[in-house]
Amino acid sequence: MRLARSISELRALRTDLPEPVGFVPTMGFLHEGHLSLARRAHKECAAAVASIFVNPTQFSPTEDLAAYPRDLDRDLAMLESAGTDVVFAPTSDAEVYPPGYATWVTVGGITERLEGASRPTHFRGVATIVAKLFLLVRPQRAYFGQKDAQQALVIDRLIADLNFPIELVVAPTVREPDGLAMSSRNTYLSPVERRAAPALRRALDLAESLWQDGERSGAEIRSRLTALLRADPLARVDYVSVADPDTLEELETVGPRALVSLAVRIGKTRLIDNTVLPPGSPLLERRTSCS
Ligand code: PAF
Repeated sequence: MRLARSISELRALRTDLPEPVGFVPTMGFLHEGHLSLARRAHKECAAAVASIFVNPTQFSPTEDLAAYPRDLDRDLAMLESAGTDVVFAPTSDAEVYPPGYATWVTVGGITERLEGASRPTHFRGVATIVAKLFLLVRPQRAYFGQKDAQQALVIDRLIADLNFPIELVVAPTVREPDGLAMSSRNTYLSPVERRAAPALRRALDLAESLWQDGERSGAEIRSRLTALLRADPLARVDYVSVADPDTLEELETVGPRALVSLAVRIGKTRLIDNTVLPPGSPLLERRTSCS
């Protein structure tokens, strides 16, 4: 595995890679969810590239940028064990956003809802860094996790609108044995908060069983999930959404497919999770979505 600490080193290493190249962008502090993407890129592509960069532009001034967990040595060992060929881990924010940086990628529409409503500048930062990384790494496939479903939809839009010749692969959420979706931010949870956190998975299980019992009212599903989450004294619900997976508009009646997504604060930690109805459906219909 080769490590690029600058854009020029990355460009040099990229020229020697066989194609197709699979790319896994990350913000580091890796867990099994990231590794499942890295293993898959290694298995499905001739070369696998990963990036580790805590992207400052997707954090608002009140968010956890300074506290975001980091452990580069551990991340590199994990990526090597997953078969990654090249890792791009820039030494500084200025390597990516030099003084005077002023170019932004803004995806409209779906970025205004859900996470975008709570975090107005978040997706501009995500779309900008991902577009920059796509231009540098020039992958044929890019691997994202379904846990960040709205992010995957934004990247799908970005790829289509800017004509990136990239196949987007959205891989299933990897979970702890008690159902909590893996996330680098789970490390913020105290032991008592950690015990409360699987409430999100229980709410999604409830959505799936309501759907299986024939419930099709978006309002009823939202209200039953909200009640389940509020029953936990540590949980503060940010949103419960039952939306059209293409537009993210809230559904009055669940049609052929729906994206059920949750954002819940457990203590100071904001957790998100989702499922697609009917249970087991892919998030993306237009493009390849592997499971
Ligand atoms: O999902 C993440 O970790 C980040 O949003 C990403 C895609 C690496 C961009 O910084």
